[in-house]
Amino acid sequence: MASDDYTSFWAENARTFDKQSNPDIDALIKRICRDVGRVQRVLDVAAGTGNVSLAMARQAGQVDALDLEPEMIAVLREKAAASGVDNISFHVQSAYELDFPDRVFDAVVILNSLHVMKTPEAALCEARRVLRSSGVLLAPTYCHAETRDNLERYLHCASRSGHKSHHLFTCDSLCTLIDGCGFEVMKRETVEINYEEQSPGLMLGYVVACPASAVS
Ligand SMILES: C[S@@+](CC[C@H](N)C(=O)[O-])C[C@H]1O[C@@H](n2cnc3c(N)ncnc32)[C@H](O)[C@@H]1O
Repeated sequence: MASDDYTSFWAENARTFDKQSNPDIDALIKRICRDVGRVQRVLDVAAGTGNVSLAMARQAGQVDALDLEPEMIAVLREKAAASGVDNISFHVQSAYELDFPDRVFDAVVILNSLHVMKTPEAALCEARRVLRSSGVLLAPTYCHAETRDNLERYLHCASRSGHKSHHLFTCDSLCTLIDGCGFEVMKRETVEINYEEQSPGLMLGYVVACPASAVS
């Protein structure tokens, strides 16, 4: 299985990961659900403990949630069972080699994860492959290099938490990456995510794209 050398961080943090959620993240998840809409089948790549999977499961026919880290998927499985959600399929799988046929998903969500992947282009090319031509990609991703101040805030947080981003995106460089993997960026916006001890917060690029061939 293709992987990064960083999975132990996620294994160690799986049981405490949800403590990081906050009102800005909740609003972000609502926005993702709104942009995905009431579709038949959605893929949540690098789902973590699956907060967006659980929210999308209320409106989609089926959600496939995958993560490289088994403990993250274990937490999500427990949360789904506890809330009686029965339309999520769970997969311990690398985003770089998806075990799905071509063009089966109406939407692919990669939330808060492209920057922690060593090879995000591999994940994006796989997302492109499994998306229907009418499908949509939502890739809200932290853009730590958006401003100098933001980068300093991120580096300060990272030094305390042990968190490592493989990529310090700007919203521009994130969009260029997504475009280069066979997508056309349809919507992009920089939003701020505030954590309790963090004021101002960290910048995230909210990017929505569709398969390039679908754009006339
Ligand atoms: C910052 S967490 C985000 C989790 C979730 N999307 C969220 O926003 O709550 C990043 C996740 O990416 C997963 N991950 C990192 N590299 C991956 C890869 N190559 N394939 C699948 N998952 C990966 C980690 O295990 C971790 O759960």
